[in-house]
Amino acid sequence: MANRESFGSGFGILVAMAGSAVGLGNLWRFPYLVGTNGGAAFIIIYLAFVLLLALPIMYSEFIVGRRSQANVFGAFKVLAPGTKWCNIGFIYVLGSLAIISFYCVVGGWTINYFWKAITFKFAVADTAALGNMFSQTVTANYEPLGFMLIFLVATALIVMAGVKDGIERYTKLMMPVLFLIVVLVAVRAVTLPGAGAGLEFLFKPDFSKVTANTFLDALGQAFFSLSIGCGTVMTYSSYVSKKENVVGLSVETAMADTIFAIIAGLAIMPAVFSFGISPSEGPGLVFVTLPYIFAQIPMGSFLAILFFFMLFIAAITSSISMLEVIVAYLNEEFKMGRKLAIILSFAVVVVLGTMCSLSQGVMADFKIFGNNIFDFFDKLSANILLPVGGFLAVIFVGWKMKRADVEDELTSGGVHPFTRAFRNYVYFSIKYLAPIVVAIILIRGLI
Ligand code: PFF
Repeated sequence: MANRESFGSGFGILVAMAGSAVGLGNLWRFPYLVGTNGGAAFIIIYLAFVLLLALPIMYSEFIVGRRSQANVFGAFKVLAPGTKWCNIGFIYVLGSLAIISFYCVVGGWTINYFWKAITFKFAVADTAALGNMFSQTVTANYEPLGFMLIFLVATALIVMAGVKDGIERYTKLMMPVLFLIVVLVAVRAVTLPGAGAGLEFLFKPDFSKVTANTFLDALGQAFFSLSIGCGTVMTYSSYVSKKENVVGLSVETAMADTIFAIIAGLAIMPAVFSFGISPSEGPGLVFVTLPYIFAQIPMGSFLAILFFFMLFIAAITSSISMLEVIVAYLNEEFKMGRKLAIILSFAVVVVLGTMCSLSQGVMADFKIFGNNIFDFFDKLSANILLPVGGFLAVIFVGWKMKRADVEDELTSGGVHPFTRAFRNYVYFSIKYLAPIVVAIILIRGLI
């Protein structure tokens, strides 16, 4: 695969990986899960899962991608030739497809709300009216489809420009902006009168709200937020050179994502409490509650513009990573030109995304296992496909690959040595800890 693309620099890789991880999961999903699962208690469980389960899975995906230098399907053909392992690549393609299909709809909402912010549509300052605005926005037939298309075209154009000149270049430009904006909004939020209750909610655990479902939600969120279990880390790391530090990059990505989620919580919860709104508002939290708050505070209209711009950037740096999983797969496995692979995957995502969008309105009664299509894709991916994908990655690395090869990747051929104790711990967590705990939570959650 001599003519394969690669990232240009270590920093570029980190930003692209962090760009994939930081997204609507941090700004939209995390706050409402924290809100509906009892605040700090959820955050503690979430952090434990990131550390104990998500990191070993991330190392594993990284090892498979970087060692094979191939797409999610081809990787297993390279590392386990002549076996059926390559078929697990389908789980990753399917996972990415399921996520991008509803993600692009929310991506469209972010552009729509950015437009509303620019045209000062939030001035109504009344939660009922803003709630109506949100439901009208998402249940309409055509408008959300138009915004979804804009979002997907932008995603496809970046992927079309390539790994280095597209993905790396644009994430490097966008991520610092994103970080600045979230810090700015958080500073404004924590200095609102009455913000203390929000801080308490975020940092003072109430374990009485914890149920078995909290664990499944926290696990799903850890996978979703870190973009693991659906092949994005595997695909991105296949463009990473042999000298980069697998462990270091994974830890830095996880830290960036977690810090971002906490700052996002700081940007949202104090404001929610300050205005006496219920934190368990659900998915509408950032689209209903925040516009209300923005309408009340000094400089609010400016912050609203920044906030929805930030949501858009966060979403697009993630959606490009999902599209890349599918494109790399089609490109390499079917010897399809990159352009054709992008057009084909774009077309499939448009169809699925359209169904997800319409499931908020005219197709709301069409249910799969009791969920509309949008919620079905959300739950199917976060609570099933990603954990299964992550489980298979650690099983492959822990049980199928030779330990010497795993260590060779972990240390990048000895370039980044770690103590024996650390290597033993990482190996143990890949081989036993992560698969066992993920399997238990998955099975319990499903039952
Ligand atoms: N990590 C992204 C977020 O938090 O919004 C979502 C995501 C991106 C999930 C890419 C999975 C993925 F492959």
